[in-house]
Amino acid sequence: MATWSAAALVAGSFLTACGANEAADNSGSDSTSSGDSASGGTIALLLPESKTTRYEAFDKPLFEDAVSKACSDCTVDYYNADQDESKQAQQLTTALNAGADVVVLDPVNGEGATGMVQEAQGQDVPVIAYDRFIQGADYYMSFDNETVGKMQAEALVKAMGDQGSILMLNGAPSDPNAAQFKAGAHSVLDDSGVKILEEYDNPDWSPENAQQWTSDQLSKYQPADIQGVYAANDGQAGGVVAALTGAGVKSDALPPITGQDAEIAAIQRILTGEQAMTIYKPIPIEADTAAEVAVDLAQGNDVPTTSDTGIDQSTYQDVKSFIFTPIVVTKDNVADTVIKDGFYSASDICTGDYADACQAAGIS
Ligand code: GAL
Repeated sequence: MATWSAAALVAGSFLTACGANEAADNSGSDSTSSGDSASGGTIALLLPESKTTRYEAFDKPLFEDAVSKACSDCTVDYYNADQDESKQAQQLTTALNAGADVVVLDPVNGEGATGMVQEAQGQDVPVIAYDRFIQGADYYMSFDNETVGKMQAEALVKAMGDQGSILMLNGAPSDPNAAQFKAGAHSVLDDSGVKILEEYDNPDWSPENAQQWTSDQLSKYQPADIQGVYAANDGQAGGVVAALTGAGVKSDALPPITGQDAEIAAIQRILTGEQAMTIYKPIPIEADTAAEVAVDLAQGNDVPTTSDTGIDQSTYQDVKSFIFTPIVVTKDNVADTVIKDGFYSASDICTGDYADACQAAGIS
């Protein structure tokens, strides 16, 4: 049985070494196993998409590493749904037919995934809702998503001196986290001196949609009318930057733009001043917790209790939940956050054109 402490849930000082980027394999599943003993177990990992870099670069390899450390003869069957809800439903059926003992599911559609949970549980296979909540799941782990939205909006309001007008780009309506980011952000923006000119719910979180929508707004507004942009994640922030610079805004004249995920391109934009902030979610603690719970379930061991973590479990409809703390990253604390934690090395970030920006920020 694993042991847990509330302190382990405070993600701020979590230390990890991150796996190298892996190429996306969306063709079906791939398996990693360190043995074939029947005492192990088969764990299916189903992630939602691959345009956001975290899934293939962090969640998948970190989860696989943590499983193989906790259980050398467990197998991980991996699936990526490419943002396609019905593909993900088929992947679940495939995983169950292939003998999954536990399902770790990051759903494309949170509400729609309740049927998937029932399908698995109907075969006595427990489900861990990974990063996105699913009603009826056995366990849930995520970051405090409403706080993410508040932190983004607070940073934006501060960067704008509590005045001016913004564009607001939210995540996919099918993603329950997106609604929480949006609610958290609105709770700050609606009480601030900042005015929302136009707001958009990006149906698939894609950078392409973010770029297109922002370009469309530039037929109604001049770039000078836009003093800030709330982008719910880094992929969308990249699309916004492409649209604004494509419309002739110089990269050193971009308005403050928010983000989330601490993608490497976003950290580089933060250092050059093209993006104001991102939210760093130390994914290792989320992936490791999911792996430990999954291994315990696969092997029929007691699962760590979540009741001593200070989390009000009723907030999560009595799905046993592990909730971790997000961290704001600006130019001032890149070194003390993503680099100190080993999420990235300075050499990952300070390539080519970014060397000078790194030096100016004291990163070497
Ligand atoms: C959210 C997730 C974010 C971001 C986004 C886009 O659910 O929490 O980290 O990746 O989806 O896929």
